[in-house]
Amino acid sequence: MIIHDHGARHVAIIMDGNGRWAKKRHLPRVAGHRAGVEAVRTIVRAAGDMGLEAMTLYAFSSENWKRPEEEVSDLMGLMKRFILSDLDEFAANDVRLKVIGNWRALAPDVVALIENALDRTAGNKRTTLAVALNYGAQDELVRAARAAAAEEGGITAETIEAHLDTTGLPPLDLLIRTSGEVRLSNFLLWQAAYAELYFTDRLWPDFTPADLQAALDHFARRERGFGGL
Ligand code: FPP
Repeated sequence: MIIHDHGARHVAIIMDGNGRWAKKRHLPRVAGHRAGVEAVRTIVRAAGDMGLEAMTLYAFSSENWKRPEEEVSDLMGLMKRFILSDLDEFAANDVRLKVIGNWRALAPDVVALIENALDRTAGNKRTTLAVALNYGAQDELVRAARAAAAEEGGITAETIEAHLDTTGLPPLDLLIRTSGEVRLSNFLLWQAAYAELYFTDRLWPDFTPADLQAALDHFARRERGFGGL
């Protein structure tokens, strides 16, 4: 029997460094993103094996539209192919897909693909893979606050929380950012309030299950006080 004593239920990752990984190899940036997708596959499998209930990945931020058109279209193409090619694997590994962010504003073919994938994996129970697409935490908070204001109880921490895109996922335990940058870049700002933050120099395509394990070991060693003693 595998015993998971790290205690973490929900891990989020800012997958940074694909461009630098490609540059080091004199490859085009898209090659870095392709390698990044391979890392996603490996890490999602590992997350299930390590007993995580949820993993949230920052795949495309609302700011990423500022990148050159070709790179945006490469990223969208990779995303579509990932969803199409990995649906069977999600079924085999009992992975439920969730998408957070303003994904309904994406191109109609992407929206249709996502809807189908959400539908087909809705009954899966082992791990939830939440992909942040066209996501920005400030946008999420504005949407949540508006929805909360329309409710009888008005705006409270509880009503905002109930309208976040991550509703239904366990509380965020650990937030990892790769590639040495020490910023949250508009990712899960509310959810990170009590999360452990973990920064590593590893570039995302080089991030392995052993690196995830190291982050979880770090988490397990921390005693989180939630502001109390
Ligand atoms: C940051 O690297 C990475 C991204 C902007 C995109 C992340 C996307 C993937 C890993 C692929 C698709 C994801 C899924 C879930 C299938 P960067 O380009 O900012 O790297 P740099 O800072 O070194 O230039």
